Order: sequence, then C-alpha cells, then structure tokens
Amino acid sequence: MDKSNGYENIAKRFIQIRGEEIDGIGTSSVRNWIKSIPQNSTMLDLGCGTGIPITKVLVENKMKVYAIDASPTLISEFQKNLPYIPVECKAVENSEFFNIKFDAIIAWGLIFLLTSDNQVKLLQKIGNSLNPGGKFLFTAPKQKTEWTDILTNRKSRSLGAEKYKQILSKNDLTVIQEFKDEGENYYFETTKIRN
Ligand SMILES: C[S@@+](CC[C@H](N)C(=O)[O-])C[C@H]1O[C@@H](n2cnc3c(N)ncnc32)[C@H](O)[C@@H]1O
Repeated sequence: MDKSNGYENIAKRFIQIRGEEIDGIGTSSVRNWIKSIPQNSTMLDLGCGTGIPITKVLVENKMKVYAIDASPTLISEFQKNLPYIPVECKAVENSEFFNIKFDAIIAWGLIFLLTSDNQVKLLQKIGNSLNPGGKFLFTAPKQKTEWTDILTNRKSRSLGAEKYKQILSKNDLTVIQEFKDEGENYYFETTKIRN
C-alpha cells in the first residue's frame, strides 16, 4: 500500500521537476537556517525525496544526516545522489529513526500531506526526539486551509499557524521565526526549550 501520499505514483515526474535542481526552491532558506546549527550536529530530514535539493544542503554543511521517505522510487534516487547517508524507506508515521536523539529536524513539503491526526502525532514525536535546544524547521501554509496537490491530485491540509503553535508548545517547541521563501512556501522555525 502506498504510504507516500501519492508521490510514488508521480515519482518520475517529481524527479524531473524538483529532484535535479541543486539550487531549487527553499535551498537559500535552509542554508540560512543551518548557519545557526553547529557542524556535526545530528539531523533528520523527514520526507527527503531524492535528497536534492534539501538533504544535500545539510550534508554539504557537514551535518550527520538521517533521512526518511515513503516512496521507493525517490529513495532509490536518493541512494544514488547521497550514497553514504542512512535513509529509511518508510512512512514518517512508522519510522524507527525517532528512537534516535536529534539536534535538528527538517520537514520540507511534508507535514501538510498527512492527515490532521497524523500531523499532531508527528509533531509530538519530533518534540520527543529533539535534544533540548534542538531546532525544527517545517513548511506549511500560514492559514488553516485544504487544497488539492497539483502533482498527486491528493488532498493536503494546513492546520494553520495558531493551531500549529498550540501543538508545538504542548511538545516543548517554541516558534522563533516565521518567513516565506521565493516560492511562497511558509516556514515555521522552532526550537525545543531547554529544561
Ligand atoms: C513535496 S515532496 C518534498 C520532498 C523533499 N523534501 C524536497 O524538498 O524535495 C514530499 C515528500 O514527502 C514524501 N512523503 C509523503 N508522505 C510521506 C509519509 N507519510 N512518510 C514519509 N514520506 C512521505 C513524498 O514521497 C515526497 O518525497
């Protein structure tokens, strides 16, 4: 059964339009974010796709990266692009990587593909697996909204900034910055409170 929310079906097309663009949309924002994270930090990329462009930025910045994606075709491309990076072909909902403690986690273009319940559960797992002071960056529209993904034809949904902040704070995560990139993607930059 497909756990990739339709991405496995359109993987070849996704590789052409996103997975070969080294400086694709979002890379400058991620490069900027990563400046605040020390080299050698342990990082997790959720919904990594082919690893290009986002995971590659993490690797180039000398992070110890783990990655997960549920599309076998995209994972096989990832393994060609970034052969030495530990990667799991699984739904983020069932990943074993959440047993590891991370200094930073990124979810670019993923959260809003999940059902509302699974978004809440995932944010909880992220909060649990981050070290105190750890960073979490994710994209999702600021407004609460639902729409049809133009590539997969599946429904996506943002819970909206207010709801995300409530869920994040229940999981010891605080939003430190919100911003948009050149592709109009909206980012929530968060950090886990230190106990
Ligand atoms: C919009 S793409 C973003 C990919 C990548 N982060 C990038 O910037 O190119 C969403 C990705 O999430 C993956 N995905 C969707 N649902 C997933 C799930 N439940 N668990 C793991 N990966 C999932 C898809 O296979 C796809 O690679």
